[in-house]
Amino acid sequence: MHRPLFGGNEKSYLAECIDSNFVSSAGEQVCEFERLVASYTGARNAIAVVNGTNALQVALILAGVDHGDEVITQSLTFVATCNAISYVGADPVFIDVDKDTLGMSPVFLRNFLETHAVRKGGVALNKSSGKRIKACLPMHTFGSPCRIQEISDVCVEWDIPLVEDAAESLGSFYGNRHTGTFGLLGTISFNGNKIITTGGGGMVLTDNDQLAKRAKHLTTTAKIPHKYEFSHDEVGFNYRLPSLNAALGCAQMEQLTRIIQIKNQIAARYRSFFETIGVEMVKPLGECRTNNWLNAIVLKGKKERNEFLQYTNEMNVMTRPIWRLMSELEMFRDCQKDGLENSRWLEERVVNIPSSVPDVLEDLSNDSGCTA
Ligand SMILES: Cc1ncc(COP(=O)(O)O)c(C=O)c1O
Repeated sequence: MHRPLFGGNEKSYLAECIDSNFVSSAGEQVCEFERLVASYTGARNAIAVVNGTNALQVALILAGVDHGDEVITQSLTFVATCNAISYVGADPVFIDVDKDTLGMSPVFLRNFLETHAVRKGGVALNKSSGKRIKACLPMHTFGSPCRIQEISDVCVEWDIPLVEDAAESLGSFYGNRHTGTFGLLGTISFNGNKIITTGGGGMVLTDNDQLAKRAKHLTTTAKIPHKYEFSHDEVGFNYRLPSLNAALGCAQMEQLTRIIQIKNQIAARYRSFFETIGVEMVKPLGECRTNNWLNAIVLKGKKERNEFLQYTNEMNVMTRPIWRLMSELEMFRDCQKDGLENSRWLEERVVNIPSSVPDVLEDLSNDSGCTA
């Protein structure tokens, strides 16, 4: 769907890393990568970790989520969002998405809270389960921002910490603000299939300096800084990103703007083609800028979707359906959910189409032809 693009300083930064002998986490490259991501996203702090799933796990812990709590999220997402909730011993509660953004609906979020929750001692309690709703975790699907400002407003009203899963949306903005910076914490993934990659990697974003300090502490085995003593003040994680990955990330960050420009051209080309044949594409909200990570079309129904998937894959064009709903998976089947009508509707119709940057970085805007 999206293959990585290595057209810049990747090899030279990796060689520098090896020459310096600092290939593990204690290297200048990790801090430099964090500075680059913080500066690009506008987050006050960025903490580099080994992958996006662990970034989510750490963000949820920092938001105060604990065993026996609940986290509100969407059913239409990649499984990592819900796995991270399980890692911290909490249960997901599934709220429907908006049909246009494929992301959590602020209207359904409010409806759910007004129907099922009460505020007690500064905490939102789920009336049916009696559990604390300790975080809200929306996701920006395929890079397209959800209605994050409205979601944030609902979370503020209910005193529910907002954590954004921005794994797919580095380079996407809602208004002038980067996705992943609206809540208490946000997370990004640099997996091999993302808009830029470190091989494997993730980032925690936060404007809260205390939480940032704690994120770094927790992800470096909770070691108390000392010149030679080894001591740890809690059970921490070995989640700090190695320098080799960070070196790759520094080179990739230099190319992010260029990659997004080309992705915009690919998306525009797809849009003009699909418009002419009357097929709907997933488009960003007017007030948003998307990184156009993965292009997606919305087919008429399940039958048409299956025919399209079969035909394109037979022709060696890789296409794939959107994820199965998390609420249908064995491990999350018993979790609470709202009606999920939009999620079900989208699950049957949305298909991703090839979205890689071409080998030759040609200017696609000069190409007027558009063939199927
Ligand atoms: C929505 C979403 N959340 C979380 C992740 C997890 O990121 P990672 O693969 O880096 O663990 C991914 C991607 O893989 C994702 O697409």
